[in-house]
Amino acid sequence: MPKLAVIHHRHEDWVAALSEAEPRLEIRGWHPREAMAADPDWLAQAEALFTWRFPEGFLARMPKLHWIQNGGAGVDHLVHHPEIGPEVLITRADGQFGLWMARYVCGHLLAEAQRLNACHAAQLESRWEGKLLPEDLSGQIALVVGFGRIGRQIGRALRELGLEVHGIVRTARSDDEFPLHGLADLSQHLPSARLLVLCAPLTEATRGMVDARLLSQGHPGLTLINVGRGDQVVEPDLLDALDEGRLGRAVLDVFSVEPLAAESPLWRHPKITLTPHHSGPSTPRAMIPDLLDNLRRYAEGRSLVETVDRVRGY
Ligand code: GLV
Repeated sequence: MPKLAVIHHRHEDWVAALSEAEPRLEIRGWHPREAMAADPDWLAQAEALFTWRFPEGFLARMPKLHWIQNGGAGVDHLVHHPEIGPEVLITRADGQFGLWMARYVCGHLLAEAQRLNACHAAQLESRWEGKLLPEDLSGQIALVVGFGRIGRQIGRALRELGLEVHGIVRTARSDDEFPLHGLADLSQHLPSARLLVLCAPLTEATRGMVDARLLSQGHPGLTLINVGRGDQVVEPDLLDALDEGRLGRAVLDVFSVEPLAAESPLWRHPKITLTPHHSGPSTPRAMIPDLLDNLRRYAEGRSLVETVDRVRGY
């Protein structure tokens, strides 16, 4: 039976879900903390690994490794990993995240537009604030950077709320549903935008893309929502832009270093809402439908599909 090792902090759940999805595989799992003590003979025979993070030096225990299924959508931590040889195929999964992330983006945008905090404050004081009107989002421009399955789902949800959605992709291309502009033109579109959503993979092109130069193009009412990767935003530049009124607000789900350090100034900034990287939960329920095809292929000794382009970075 082909073997699939699982190194994951929720390995029990994943072993159960993967075994149910493909019973023709022999699947064993360990917490990343226990990985270095895992059965060496068994690991040495396994050709496949399901993981999010594994300890340094671990892959030397899997000399036959041929396939890594990432336990999430972003593969930036794997594509250039020095322990992963060029012969190893990497696959990712983003199945249901689009819907979760669309709810996240819309939830945070609507909280602001409906002025929920101000309504609640008025309610606490039994104050009838007749002038406390919601903001009209109709026709306002939303730029969604990264327009794969996740970005498109976010774009559709924002469009339903009345916004005019533009996707930002590596290079401009035509699309049946939305205008798609190249990343190089982002700064040109920013001055007219009300919302900037980051949901792109972290690559050399997107690392540090939201910096002082780009933020100087925004306007004081712009809201930035980052559900992509923390390193896409230069944190000191973001703080300066918020403090100097070049950016209205930031909603951050991802950070350069996670968990975010208690002493980070981001925690207490009045124009920042932050959440603990929870916008797209990587649960078996959300991901198994994406994994099924390749699990079957591996069980049957067939070649894998939709593998990551390691040069492109996603
Ligand atoms: C989480 O951030 C993921 O990439 O799935």
